Amino acid sequence: MYRIIKTVPRCIFGKGSLDQLDEILKPFRSGPDNGIVFMADDYFRDKPLSGRIPAGKHDMLLWINVDDEPKTSVVDNLRDRILSESGFVPAAVVGIGGGSIMDYAKAVSVMITNSGSSVLYQGLNLAKNPAVFHIGIPTLSGTGAEVSMTAVLTGPEKKLGIKGEFTPFDLVVLDPELIRDAPANQRFYTGMDAYIHNVESLCGTSRNCMSDSYAHQSQVLCREAFLGTGLSREEADEKLMIASWFGGLSIGFSEVGVCHALSYGLSYVLGYHHGIANCIAFNQLEDVYGKDTDDFHRMIEIHKIDIPHNISKGFTDNQLLHMAEVSIKLDHMWKHAYGPEWRNVVSIDKIVGWFRKM
Ligand SMILES: [Fe+2]
Repeated sequence: MYRIIKTVPRCIFGKGSLDQLDEILKPFRSGPDNGIVFMADDYFRDKPLSGRIPAGKHDMLLWINVDDEPKTSVVDNLRDRILSESGFVPAAVVGIGGGSIMDYAKAVSVMITNSGSSVLYQGLNLAKNPAVFHIGIPTLSGTGAEVSMTAVLTGPEKKLGIKGEFTPFDLVVLDPELIRDAPANQRFYTGMDAYIHNVESLCGTSRNCMSDSYAHQSQVLCREAFLGTGLSREEADEKLMIASWFGGLSIGFSEVGVCHALSYGLSYVLGYHHGIANCIAFNQLEDVYGKDTDDFHRMIEIHKIDIPHNISKGFTDNQLLHMAEVSIKLDHMWKHAYGPEWRNVVSIDKIVGWFRKM
């Protein structure tokens, strides 16, 4: 059975393309009451970017805190707030920020038109009604959240995405200038998400010509952006932005693997953000990903990045077990990494062993 992938149907790419946003939104402003909801990372509240968000008097501008990974409870609150405070179903939702904001914008757009808690929609194709038109404007690159058909959410019982044909953005504005000022560590952790997507996509049983093609090109771009010499920051940012897009498409047609399964455990139990959790896990996965971890280590050196290590000293036995249980439930990732008989290779003890190395 082959999966049906829905991709983003409209994309603008280029330096300064954010300035076209007002023009893009014009057709959505034709109704008398249908304002636009802007959801932006509150990091930008006092930054110049805040002055470039074309919010009018009928619109709603929500500054979102993303200190924690996106949660179902926050999605539900945002949806309720938008519907009660604005009194309208918005004509469009615009998300401006990193991967967490991309996930929030996608999830809220789906939840505005589907009743009940977002917990009910964590899974594949569970939403019944099409989402509100939604636009993604990434300010960090690597997660691929701008192009994926999943809004990853942590709920009371699991970390699992709202995945389906209504989730992907209807339009994405890729403006490399927006990632220019990202803090070095954050840029690296997020960028490595793309690198790891490619490695995992290429090393598993779900790989195919489509996923390989995107992953190979994304990997070329990642290596140029993080290992390349003589590139300006501007050139590296363009490459990273496209590496993120292609890496996201690659795992859409294939799957992530061991690193993501472990990283989900770290994030769920200890609250680590996705990018840094991946880096912590990938840093200790030479036994699985071989020479691809060599390049990763070179990138860490070149960019003088701190990857937390020896964190397992602080884990309690209960935390270790809980992380391993969260991780082993991600059947699709293990199946991709080791095939349908993955349970013959991977056990709770083996997963605990990986966590103990971190
Ligand atoms: Fe990822």
